[in-house]
Amino acid sequence: MKTDIVFVCTECGKQMLKWMGRCPGCGEWHTVVEREIARSKGGGVGSLEKRTGNVVPLTEIQGDTVPRMKTGIQELDRVLGGGMVRRSVILLGGDPGIGKSTLLMQALGVMAARGETVLYVSGEESLEQLKLRAERLDVKSPEFLILVENELEPIMEKMGDVQASVVVIDSVQSICSRSSDSLPGSVTQVRHVAGTVLDRVKRGSAACFIVGHVTKDGVLAGPKVLEHMVDTVLYFEGERGHAYRILRGVKNRFGSATEIGVFEMGDRGLAEVSNPSELFLSERPQGVSGSAVTALVEGTRPILAEIQALVTGPIPGQGRRTCLGTDSQRLALMIAVIEKKLGLALGDQDIFLNAVGGVRAVEPASDLAVAAALLSSFLERSITGGTLVFGEVGLAGEVRRVSKSEARINEASRLGFNRIIAPAANVEPVPATSGIKVVGVSHIEELSGLLFDSDGSAEIKTKR
Ligand SMILES: Nc1ncnc2c1ncn2[C@@H]1O[C@H](COP(=O)(O)OP(=O)(O)O)[C@@H](O)[C@H]1O
Ligand SMILES: [Mg+2]
Repeated sequence: MKTDIVFVCTECGKQMLKWMGRCPGCGEWHTVVEREIARSKGGGVGSLEKRTGNVVPLTEIQGDTVPRMKTGIQELDRVLGGGMVRRSVILLGGDPGIGKSTLLMQALGVMAARGETVLYVSGEESLEQLKLRAERLDVKSPEFLILVENELEPIMEKMGDVQASVVVIDSVQSICSRSSDSLPGSVTQVRHVAGTVLDRVKRGSAACFIVGHVTKDGVLAGPKVLEHMVDTVLYFEGERGHAYRILRGVKNRFGSATEIGVFEMGDRGLAEVSNPSELFLSERPQGVSGSAVTALVEGTRPILAEIQALVTGPIPGQGRRTCLGTDSQRLALMIAVIEKKLGLALGDQDIFLNAVGGVRAVEPASDLAVAAALLSSFLERSITGGTLVFGEVGLAGEVRRVSKSEARINEASRLGFNRIIAPAANVEPVPATSGIKVVGVSHIEELSGLLFDSDGSAEIKTKR
């Protein structure tokens, strides 16, 4: 086979056609080395996926229904788009200690209990540690095979031997290859390991999970470069000190990438939370200022969340703005709109905004609830009980239509909310749900008159 010479940075993996003293990718000095690579037909450098090379009419391709393997953990299956697809590679990223190994051991445990052969490869933990975890998670099945190994080549060999339906590689950073001379965990290694696994999986019949740790500053240092190689990318997130864990789809070649799965970490592993709205609202304080409830949509699912704002001041100079689980740009926008359209001076106030429970309220549909929470805190008035708020707010203060309003309203109704403040444009097509009143607003000025037990507009006038 013909070979080409390329130059590769051992730090970031960037490929170049000529040698350079300093890598243009990461800026490191003396990291570029020469590599010989097999010349691939057409696919270019690093092309890993099999192509059959025949031109076929689209209509003749069979494959409208991809067969799925259910893991048996519904929250995971939904995020995967209905289950795992054979010959696909799924990257599971997340902070160390968040529960990636736990989730995958549980999922494989359910499959093994059904009689399917599964292979769990660990480069991080000993057999004894894995056994302890398995006992804690009540995973016991002879179909559950374990391999503790750090070297890629023997792993590939064993993968061929056991013919498992699902393979887990935990984690990509802990596996190294004899044929690559860079350090374990370096980007070049990580990419090489993943590339080899991917190639093997595409030629076999198993589905494969690759675990990747996120580094301290929040990026998947190695795994980030894997995102484009694999079929599906999932992130497992959660706040330290909180039991909730959210599994989020980031990329999915076989389904929607907007779904989330919600879990609760306990002594016996992860429990599915099939009713996240109840969870996120469970500790909501009643009758206090600064708290508003909104309806978000994650994938196909509406989820109710509490938005809390704390507006304190005035302080000398410019106030601080802090966002947790919310978008700081949208907060800045909301503050500007409130200042300009309602005439309230928020500039010298410290403002804290939090989406409670680790949920992420970043969609524009949460704007109106952010504004409501800000007004409630600033005016020190609690929002009338049973009220839920959603809608996007534009720069002119107009309240704009949002998608899936019916799903949002139904979820609110299911959880006992009886009054919904929504964009006027969304109110019309909604069928009258019994016992629930939907109030349409078309401008942010109308909001203060609706949020509180008595009209809040008078108070706004005195605060101006
Ligand atoms: N003995 C235990 N009892 C209860 N919870 C445990 C125990 N051991 C670990 N955990 C929980 O499991 C988490 C570790 O999960 P793990 O799956 O190993 O994370 P990751 O693979 O993402 O690094 C810990 O943060 C802790 O919450
Ligand atoms: Mg782990």
